[in-house]
Amino acid sequence: MKKIFVNGYGSIGSRITSFLKDDPELTVIGIGKYSPDEKVEIANSRGLDVYVPEKKIGDFSNYKIAGSIESALDNCDLVIDAAPGGHGYKNKVSLYEPKNIPAIYQGGESVIGSEAVSDLLFNSRANYAQALGKRHVMQGSCNVTGMGRILEPLRDKFGDELIRFDVTLVRRWADIEQTEKKLVDTIEMSEKPHHGDDVKMYFGKDAPLYVRAIKVPTRQMHLHIMDIRFKGIAPKPSEIHELFTDEFGVAKVWTAKGTKDIRDYAQNMGFNFTDTNMIHIHANMTTSIGDTVQMMYSDDQTGIVIPENHMLLQAMLFEKSYEEAFTHTESIFHMKEKKEKLQEYFAKK
Ligand SMILES: NC(=O)c1ccc[n+]([C@@H]2O[C@H](COP(=O)([O-])OP(=O)(O)OC[C@H]3O[C@@H](n4cnc5c(N)ncnc54)[C@H](OP(=O)(O)O)[C@@H]3O)[C@@H](O)[C@H]2O)c1
Repeated sequence: MKKIFVNGYGSIGSRITSFLKDDPELTVIGIGKYSPDEKVEIANSRGLDVYVPEKKIGDFSNYKIAGSIESALDNCDLVIDAAPGGHGYKNKVSLYEPKNIPAIYQGGESVIGSEAVSDLLFNSRANYAQALGKRHVMQGSCNVTGMGRILEPLRDKFGDELIRFDVTLVRRWADIEQTEKKLVDTIEMSEKPHHGDDVKMYFGKDAPLYVRAIKVPTRQMHLHIMDIRFKGIAPKPSEIHELFTDEFGVAKVWTAKGTKDIRDYAQNMGFNFTDTNMIHIHANMTTSIGDTVQMMYSDDQTGIVIPENHMLLQAMLFEKSYEEAFTHTESIFHMKEKKEKLQEYFAKK
């Protein structure tokens, strides 16, 4: 039984913890909290031990805590860092490296520049084997993971026929449970978004991928608008859709009017955290015009990276083969079943 510590209990950390508790090969020894608030009680009520930074222990006198994060780390085999972007790097330098503990970092960190947490940006579909036995790896962000689910199968099938990919990321403003974060009535433009460079870490540094990003006032998923240019006449939409029939974490939906329809369905079906953990190709929006295929897919911002973290953990800690890890992750996340349900509910009329 391997011991995992989850440092950070926000949108991502709370989800990861919840799924890890269903894994008989692991035990979650606790979570790290940094602010004394009601989430300490929530974590306790879920049977989790809460640890806080040594120097903040005094701030938590009104809460039940199990000890310091520093002491918890001494007793774990791997830490999943789920800190706000940039803090993962600081934790690596101040905690994980000095204590010689392997760590998984989230997509708000970087794999480029002086504050890189790793030289590997993980995407299970593209580079699972490179994570085997590695000690510090970053899981790609939700948008970066979602793009890979489309790009990799396209390249496998069409290879040199592909000329370029132009993607506009329409990013959600905040997560559903981030109620303290108010939506602002504007469309915000992102200068120099990191997502294209991140994707190129696994898709190839010279890939003809051009990414723009805007942020819109919604909590209901990201939407990616992708144009794919081919050397000759582009394939028909049906040929594109066919590619994703057996792809992990990609559902094809025809009748969702918007991203909230999908979230509502996930909620009605009782999916954990109302997550689908995947992307959804809005198949009714795919067109083929001359040399270009235009498509759109929505990306479950908080859910998509959770099974990926689970795959990554198995590569780093157990050095399992891709097939073994995939089967185990599937037994916990039931992605195939969720995909079938989504496809059936939003089937072509
Ligand atoms: N939200 C998404 O949709 C999404 C999707 C993919 C990837 N990510 C990435 O996942 C990471 C976490 O994002 P999030 O959305 O889960 O953030 P979040 O909801 O704001 O939660 C962050 C958590 O980190 C804790 N924290 C604060 N300082 C910390 C530190 N120094 N070390 C460790 N933990 C610390 C916070 O604790 P307190 O509350 O106690 O202060 C909070 O529990 C980021 O890198 C983000 O880019 C997010």
